[in-house]
Amino acid sequence: MIDTYHVPVLRDRTIELLITDLNGIYVDATFGAGGHTRALLQSLSKEAKVFGFDQDDDAAANVGGDSRFQLCQYNFRFIKKVLRLNGVSQVDGIMADLGVSSHQFDKEERGFSYRGEAMLDMRMNQKSELTAKTVLATYRESELLNIFSVYGEVRNARQLTRQILDCRAKRPLETTQDLLNAINPVMKGDKFKYLAQVFQALRIEVNDELNALKDLLEQGFELLKPGGRMVVLTYHSLEDRMVKNFFKYGNIDGEIVSDFYGNIKRPFEIITKKPIVPDMKEQKTNPRSQSAKLRAGAKV
Ligand SMILES: C[S@@+](CC[C@H](N)C(=O)[O-])C[C@H]1O[C@@H](n2cnc3c(N)ncnc32)[C@H](O)[C@@H]1O
Repeated sequence: MIDTYHVPVLRDRTIELLITDLNGIYVDATFGAGGHTRALLQSLSKEAKVFGFDQDDDAAANVGGDSRFQLCQYNFRFIKKVLRLNGVSQVDGIMADLGVSSHQFDKEERGFSYRGEAMLDMRMNQKSELTAKTVLATYRESELLNIFSVYGEVRNARQLTRQILDCRAKRPLETTQDLLNAINPVMKGDKFKYLAQVFQALRIEVNDELNALKDLLEQGFELLKPGGRMVVLTYHSLEDRMVKNFFKYGNIDGEIVSDFYGNIKRPFEIITKKPIVPDMKEQKTNPRSQSAKLRAGAKV
């Protein structure tokens, strides 16, 4: 496996927080290049088992020969069903390192980066149907507005949406360059930040990332043994808020749920009172780590 494929963020800290039983069963929900999985396998005993999920076919090339590891080429939103098919109903720990890998981002033809010239694809799972091109060509004004304002937190989302509608009426937006040309006149503030927000918003929609995360958190909680850990690395505030709320209240909206006696339900013991962030050295050597936040909880 090539180092440049993807450098795992907060690798050692993630694994330390995850392991409670050296002989246990663990899930890496976002296998990618397998950097976290390899560190996990190195720390565990011969009796342990690790399941890795990844919806991108490219990830299969990164599986080594460790018999304790099994790759599940599925969206992690099916974690419960897939593990059940493998005879597993309880696990000791689940980790997720969300978003796209450097490999996906840097592979120009995948269309994740505004720096390349490629079709507007942005699918992590190359077999799924919805692409960014389809989103831009077919979504209604209200839907696009929602994507740019909520997923991208783009400050002039309304103006951007109108601009896209005007442009697509003249000519279909098919490539990353078409999109760049279309939005160029309405970009506000730091150009690179703006583009990153627009591309992130489309990527989240294409891959239905927030609903998949909700499913992972809910099913993951059911799968965990009492005392078992969930450790999640997020890269933007929407994901981080969902994880924070889930660890605190057991739901992604942060709704306070009380029992019959009025005691607030606390499904997790929160291990990381504040999120862990990479130190300056890691941020410098791995710029992708700059926005990372690591949270860990233990099922009560
Ligand atoms: C940030 S990378 C993980 C890198 C990995 N920790 C490593 O050390 O190489 C995220 C990976 O998760 C995968 N992924 C993201 N969302 C997913 C989902 N809902 N289901 C399955 N895989 C997903 C992506 O395809 C990508 O390969």
